[in-house]
Parts: sequence; C-alpha cells; structure tokens
Amino acid sequence: MTEILAIKSDFDRFGEWIDAFDQCDIDVVAWEKVDDPASIDYALVWKPEPGALHRLTNLNIIFSIGAGLDHLKGDNILPPGIPVIKMADSGLTAGMVEYVLYCVLRYHRFMPEYERQQENRTWHGILQVPAPQRTVGILGLGEIGSACARALVQLDFNVLGWSRSEKNVQGVTGFHGNDQLDAMLGQCDILVCLLPHTRETAGILNARTFAALPKGAFLVNAGRGGLQDERDIVEALNSGQLGGAALDVFQVEPLPDHSPLWNHSKILLTPHVASMNLPATSAQHVYRNIMHFREGQPLTHVADMERGY
Ligand SMILES: NC(=O)c1ccc[n+]([C@@H]2O[C@H](COP(=O)([O-])OP(=O)(O)OC[C@H]3O[C@@H](n4cnc5c(N)ncnc54)[C@H](OP(=O)(O)O)[C@@H]3O)[C@@H](O)[C@H]2O)c1
Repeated sequence: MTEILAIKSDFDRFGEWIDAFDQCDIDVVAWEKVDDPASIDYALVWKPEPGALHRLTNLNIIFSIGAGLDHLKGDNILPPGIPVIKMADSGLTAGMVEYVLYCVLRYHRFMPEYERQQENRTWHGILQVPAPQRTVGILGLGEIGSACARALVQLDFNVLGWSRSEKNVQGVTGFHGNDQLDAMLGQCDILVCLLPHTRETAGILNARTFAALPKGAFLVNAGRGGLQDERDIVEALNSGQLGGAALDVFQVEPLPDHSPLWNHSKILLTPHVASMNLPATSAQHVYRNIMHFREGQPLTHVADMERGY
C-alpha cells in the first residue's frame, strides 16, 4: 500500500509542494482532506495546532517545513516519541549564504557610508580594508552557519565561528560553549547571528554581548527575532558601540508600525526574507529521510526538542 505524506494546504506554494513529490512513490495529500487520520504515515508541518498531530495515530516522522523549530514548541503540539526532522534544503541554505555575503560585503566596503555621501553629493573615498584584515564572527556553525563561514573563507575574510560543541570547519577558527564566547566577540568587526532560538540562546544579542565587541562593530541577525533585544540594539547604535545592524528577524513579526527600528539610519531592515524554502529541493530532503526510514537507516537532521534545535 502506498504511504501517505500529509501537508497543510495553506502552505505558501502548496501546488509546487505537491508537484515536488511527483517522482516519489508516495501519496501527497492535503492534511485537511484526509478522512482517516490513522492512514497518514508522515506529516510536513508549519505551526500545527495543539492536538492536531496527536490525531495522526500511525505517524512515523514529523518534518518541519522550516530550519527553525519555534513553531513546534508549546503545549500539546508534538506527540511523544515521534522523530522531528529539521528542514535542510540546499536552496534555503544558498539563499542564506547570499543574504549574509550581501550584508558582510555591504559593511566591509563601507556602502552605508557611501549611500549617505551620495545624499549629500560628497565625493570622498575611504581607504579600502583587505578582506584578510576583516574579522567576521558567526554565532551558530550549523547547516547554514557553516555554509556562510565557508563562503566567507572563500572571499579571504578572517572567519571565526561559535557553536555549542566543538566544530571543525576548514579555514574557520572555532570557539564553543559560553566560556569561549567573549574571546570570539572581542575580535569581531562584523558579527553574524545564525543561531536557533532556544532557552539558552534567547536574547543573546544584548547590551552585554555588544559591549564585548570592538567599538563600532556591525551586527547581522538572520537567525530569529527572539535572539535579539531590540532596545539594546538601538542603544548600542546610538552610542556608537554598534556601527550598524542588518536585521531580517524581529521580536514581533510583522514589525509593529511604532517600532523605532523602522527609520533608524543605521539599520538595514528586511521582512524575514533572508531565505525561503524551495519546494523542489526541500522535497528531496524529506523523501531521502523517508527512504532511510523504510530501509531502517538512521534519519538525518533529527531535532533534539529538549535541547531546542
Ligand atoms: N531568516 C531566515 O529567513 C531564516 C531561514 C532559515 C533559517 N533561519 C534561522 O537559522 C537558524 C540556524 O539554522 P541551521 O539550519 O543552521 O541550524 P542548525 O543546523 O541546527 O545549527 C544550529 C547551530 O547553532 C549552534 N548552537 C545552538 N545552541 C547553541 C548554544 N547554546 N551555544 C552555542 N551554539 C549553539 C549549534 O551548535 P552545535 O553545532 O554544537 O549543535 C549549531 O552550530 C534556524 O534555527 C533559524 O532560526 C532563518
């Protein structure tokens, strides 16, 4: 009997998701249209309602449609004992690499300064800094952080990376654990945050962290809004402790009208678009894991919900 993968029909680009599984020997159905919840073998989810997954009594795997797992936290969301797989999509990672490179190069090549100069018709060249003399620190060296680190190494930046456990990414000086965080921060001209939002990382982009950076360092946050204290960011920008910030994620999304971030001259703001899932490449990741499951092989990218990512 053909197995069933259920996905929510209110996903963006639902039709593309259905098409992406075209070549796979699996029935892909809209979750809401399933008569018998016990017939569903796998579920691809985003913000499931409390209790909804519990009704799928024969579920083997839960796939998160996003790399972040915030949408699966809360009471009565996850039935116990069913593996949760984080999204790892080559298309999503490629988009994140583009966003991070864009922001790093923008600061590295003084673009905000030149934009201001243009407004004032000022013709003034700033001495270029060679990439090896520019230190970029990355918080989070996972699927996305390590891809960004490798791309920055390719451009000859001096790249540092921080993770929970010890990591070895070629060309990147690694730091791990809370004890080693300040040693990295003290060297960063540009700090890029690609951490997941967990109990341990919540609010990590705060005044204490900014004070540990060299004065005038730049911040890029494309992780999650819950990682940042927006009041501290504004204060650090106003005092000059931060030279600028590129923010793709916010404590409250959409960013409320009254937020001072909207028109702060030192902030580049984007509406959580650093990258997006591409159904075609995401479906490959999902189907690969389904194949592993069928063959009794270990699953990949299994989330540790206790740890939070
Ligand atoms: N803005 C966007 O459009 C967008 C798109 C996609 C993803 N994201 C965000 O990007 C995040 C990262 O994605 P990913 O796929 O790279 O995640 P991942 O593979 O799970 O990697 C997470 C990294 O963070 C590190 N980490 C977690 N907790 C830590 C702690 N307490 N101290 C130090 N390091 C810690 C992990 O350390 P270990 O390596 O030791 O485990 C790992 O290196 C997602 O969670 C999501 O929030 C944003």
